[in-house]
Amino acid sequence: MHIKDQPGAALGVTVEGFDHTTASEADIQALKEAVYTKKIAVLKGQDLSPERFLALGRRLGRPETYYEPMYRHPDVPEVFVSSNVPEGGKQIGVPKTGKFWHADYQFMPDPFGLTLIHPQVIPEKNRGTYFIDMGRAYARLPEELRAAVAGTRCRHSVRKYFKIRPQDVYRPLSEVIDEVETKTPPVVQPTTFTHPMTGETILYISEGFTVGIEGQDGAPLGGELLAGLLEATGQLDDTFAHEGIHLQGFEKGDLLVWDNRSLIHRARHTTTPEPTVSYRVTVHDERALYDGMVAA
Ligand SMILES: [Fe+2]
Repeated sequence: MHIKDQPGAALGVTVEGFDHTTASEADIQALKEAVYTKKIAVLKGQDLSPERFLALGRRLGRPETYYEPMYRHPDVPEVFVSSNVPEGGKQIGVPKTGKFWHADYQFMPDPFGLTLIHPQVIPEKNRGTYFIDMGRAYARLPEELRAAVAGTRCRHSVRKYFKIRPQDVYRPLSEVIDEVETKTPPVVQPTTFTHPMTGETILYISEGFTVGIEGQDGAPLGGELLAGLLEATGQLDDTFAHEGIHLQGFEKGDLLVWDNRSLIHRARHTTTPEPTVSYRVTVHDERALYDGMVAA
């Protein structure tokens, strides 16, 4: 196994010669260390079946199966499928997922530390995923914004981007909304926390899932502060030219592992979508999102 920095990018390493069936425990620790410090590892030459992809994920942690069944691979439920390519006339997984800034499972009480993506069908033109390192973003915040978020907490919800399921057809929208609010009520997390693996301060907010910010007493602080934070971190930049935004490319055979505590990401889709299929496995590592977190 050989790990080297991605040329010309602030983030990321490429990893050659990784084989999850023969990797030593020291190799696994070295890989995870690279993910925590450099945020993204691109494992080259993988080409894994869903079963083998899951087996690789198990080497890094405890898999989390996505809570909504329509996203699950029909044979391997731990594999989440994003696809706009029907198989045998049947939709597998869900098309156009994640086209908004988010951390995976940010709206859930116990988000996992690592996300793994193994692209299967790769678009010709608009390939790649956008990322923002929210540790670096916090460090670059203007002093007044850093002061303003101290001691505050944020409310995260799936409500803005929850996707209507086949079984929701003919249901009243109010009933679907009630179900979403009951099954996945908003969660409250500190606006910043210390990354348990690196010690960095992470600004844990996203345009997609963060719906409110509140003071120490629980009183809402209004939308301006949140909007200011989203603006400063590049999440409102529709041109994706903000200095904090990193476009991570990939090619067939790549398998991306990233730090889901400090990175937020956003899928790159266009109005005329090209065929795209990718598999995702998500795993909990040895620690919670941050030390001392109590999952509700
Ligand atoms: Fe995602």
